[in-house]
Amino acid sequence: MSAPIKDSVVVITGATGAIATALIAELLARGAAKIYAAARDISGLTATDKVVPLKLDVTSDADAASAAAQASDATLLINNAGINHNTAFMLAPDLAIATEEIEINYLAPLRLTRAFAAVLIKNQGAVLNILTILARVNLPLMGSYCASKAAALSLTQGLRGELAPKGVRVAGALPGAVDTRMTAGLPIPKMTPAEAAKEILDGYEAGEEDIYVGDMARGLAAGLAQDHKAVEKQLGSG
Ligand SMILES: NC(=O)c1ccc[n+]([C@@H]2O[C@H](COP(=O)([O-])OP(=O)(O)OC[C@H]3O[C@@H](n4cnc5c(N)ncnc54)[C@H](OP(=O)(O)O)[C@@H]3O)[C@@H](O)[C@H]2O)c1
Repeated sequence: MSAPIKDSVVVITGATGAIATALIAELLARGAAKIYAAARDISGLTATDKVVPLKLDVTSDADAASAAAQASDATLLINNAGINHNTAFMLAPDLAIATEEIEINYLAPLRLTRAFAAVLIKNQGAVLNILTILARVNLPLMGSYCASKAAALSLTQGLRGELAPKGVRVAGALPGAVDTRMTAGLPIPKMTPAEAAKEILDGYEAGEEDIYVGDMARGLAAGLAQDHKAVEKQLGSG
């Protein structure tokens, strides 16, 4: 079932980030009626007739509740805020990094979806979680990030089953590497944020549930379908 962006009212978290900035531009180009640009620091965001900055730290229950009260006309929640410490499990000095990645990459989309559930059910809306292809297979040099995104992929599947009977669609985007501060230290081919945003919204509008974004993601998904263990071993060997 297709799902046009035109006339939708979008809440996007982590709105100051690179992919979010590109998504906001692409959402506007596709005719979104209003975008609540939610960020923990909104001082750099400009309000326009269609863009409403919203103060939201995704780790805060109070901020999530207040955002849902303010954005009661929302029809699409994009859980985009994320963090990647690019750290292997055994190289982290303690559990602080893994804890933060789980907090922001897994618990926050759960928190936000719970906060917005009543609004999205009322408006027969949708949730779009920005995951990563590494939610499907672990890359040890950023192992705890991958684990947190694997939890978010499972969350996406569970929410899809739970919310579908209530008329709320849940989709997940699984990009490969995108050229943002998150991948600044990685000397690998990367998509631009604009290319990623376009593919994410193409997949969303086409009604896809699992939106593979970029050649890297599609290549890994094809490899996983053919021989999951071989891909795990390939990434495991660096
Ligand atoms: N770059 C890639 O290669 C890639 C690939 C696949 C998936 N992704 C996913 O795409 C999403 C966006 O990443 P990006 O590459 O655009 O990175 P980015 O530029 O670093 O953006 C991340 C955003 O998340 C926000 N954020 C972090 N903690 C937050 C919190 N507690 N409350 C509210 N916002 C918070 C950041 O806000 P501050 O500016 O305040 O820190 C920032 O706006 C993430 O979920 C990421 O995992 C990225």
